[in-house]
Amino acid sequence: MKKEQVVNCQFSVWYPIFKKHTIKSVILPLPQNVIEYLLDDGTLVVSGSDHNTQPTHSENSDLNAEEDIQWSDDETTTTVTAPEFPEFTSKVLEAINALGGRVFPKLNWSAPRDANWIALNSSLQCHSLSDIFLLFKSSDFITHDLTQPFIQCSDQDSPDPAINYELVLRKWSELIPGGEYRCFVKENKLIAISQRDYTQYYPHVLKQEKPICQDVLEFFHQHVQYNFPDEDFVFDVYRDSLGRVWLIDLNPFGEVTDSLLFTWEELVSSGEIADQQEGPAFRCTTSEVTVQPSPCLSYRIPRDFVDLSTGEDAYKLIDFLKLKKSQQEDSEEEEEEEEESAPQ
Ligand SMILES: Nc1ncnc2c1ncn2[C@@H]1O[C@H](COP(=O)(O)OP(=O)(O)O)[C@@H](O)[C@H]1O
Ligand SMILES: [Mg+2]
Repeated sequence: MKKEQVVNCQFSVWYPIFKKHTIKSVILPLPQNVIEYLLDDGTLVVSGSDHNTQPTHSENSDLNAEEDIQWSDDETTTTVTAPEFPEFTSKVLEAINALGGRVFPKLNWSAPRDANWIALNSSLQCHSLSDIFLLFKSSDFITHDLTQPFIQCSDQDSPDPAINYELVLRKWSELIPGGEYRCFVKENKLIAISQRDYTQYYPHVLKQEKPICQDVLEFFHQHVQYNFPDEDFVFDVYRDSLGRVWLIDLNPFGEVTDSLLFTWEELVSSGEIADQQEGPAFRCTTSEVTVQPSPCLSYRIPRDFVDLSTGEDAYKLIDFLKLKKSQQEDSEEEEEEEEESAPQ
């Protein structure tokens, strides 16, 4: 995989080409001070006009300045200055409104899929810039985009291409995970299709292998093949209940992209898996036995615990404790219910 291939898979490169076949989205340039804020391990909360960012420390009435919040213990006084991005905030809110009020956020390549555990709704659905910041600041995938997008490229000696960072807001869409597939294209041929959520067994996917392959192949021939600047790439699709296929994402053909139910060895030496007469190889999870833990589970013990334990990131700590409290209450309720129904 070359740096150029990574450059071509940026959202702002492929979105204009495939606009008609994907989810409606808005691309906003990410200002330098916002990039710095995202990379900074300090404060989380954003002040200003963003409707969801009321400070959560109402018990302490002298903490009334949103931008300059102070609290102290016996020895030290820490001042946290919540950053303000008024212009950017209003652009983001405008875009969120234009997309129906609920969005799925990404950077140039990645969504913060590893961070959804921290959101109070355990979802990537965002309504405000502070929702987006909470996810982005907690995500290693986002940090990867910002700090080392070319890390696995083979042409390490060539200079890194300049990147203009962008916030991508996509209209929130309820995608049924069983309808998502990853498609591997080598030399402009669709060689393999994998169920994207391979951790689950979906009986209907197994049963519908033929129509799925047919619909995806037709979509590829009609709309994707020869339209992308590279001849090797990976595209993700969603096939809805009517058999219509939508483009979800484009990814580089290489190790940075999860090969799901294939291996990169197989994909690179594609002769082994694809017989061009018969069309692409198709793989899905075929029984409960093979169900695997979700790959993002390992991200649930995140670096942010360092912030939380040192108390440096006070708002993240507050959000986290609130979340824990509500989870505890839920499980206490469940236990009570269980006790009530348990045989004496
Ligand atoms: N607009 C959207 N609304 C809701 N969920 C989405 C949306 N776009 C993508 N998703 C979900 O998020 C997952 C990851 O999205 P994707 O754009 O491929 O990010 P990444 O490249 O970081 O994996 C998809 O598999 C899909 O389940
Ligand atoms: Mg992707």
